[in-house]
Amino acid sequence: MNIVFATNNPNKIKEVQALIPSHIKLVSLEEIGCTEDIPETQNTIEGNAIQKADYIKEHYGLDCFADDTGLEVLALDGAPGVFSARYAGPQRNAEDNMNLLLSELDSKDNRSARFKTVIAIHFQGKLISFEGICEGEITHKKIGTDGFGYDPIFKPTDYKQTFAELSLAEKNRIGHRGKAVSKLVNYLNMH
Ligand code: IMP
Repeated sequence: MNIVFATNNPNKIKEVQALIPSHIKLVSLEEIGCTEDIPETQNTIEGNAIQKADYIKEHYGLDCFADDTGLEVLALDGAPGVFSARYAGPQRNAEDNMNLLLSELDSKDNRSARFKTVIAIHFQGKLISFEGICEGEITHKKIGTDGFGYDPIFKPTDYKQTFAELSLAEKNRIGHRGKAVSKLVNYLNMH
């Protein structure tokens, strides 16, 4: 079974590839000749995931899935949320985003946060979405070198390490994207 994963983020491909059974082949955007930026202009995480999956279905006629992720911080009323990628500006830089978030939380006692991933999939004529959530808190400084994005400042509940200190397998086991992908794999296995 072939299915397009609509992302240009090699970290996401690595994480998802590790969870997908070998009979499902992930096809990259490069392999289908999609080099343009896929629009992400909705105001919810689910809306953006659906918009990206719709784009590939409409323009390339292929079954595909897309994920969108946001970091929701309780003391900031859910920000950066759907704006996580461009929180500190259009340069979409992970260091800038983390620095801004750490400074916004300077004066706050509550550092609870959660990652939310929504995966939207067009498959056999249907559009379905799956959600994965990982609860945790924002650390006071960046710790760890693995992973990507906000991983060095996110410590999952009941863990002493940040995502950037955990192995890929462990992050996938407890993480937001891993949970959403498990639901996706269960669904694909039933069809
Ligand atoms: P998007 O899903 O690629 O739009 O991601 C939105 C923002 O969240 C970007 O700044 C990503 O770097 C960040 N992000 C997405 N997934 C993760 C993750 O698993 N860990 C840390 N940051 C993430």
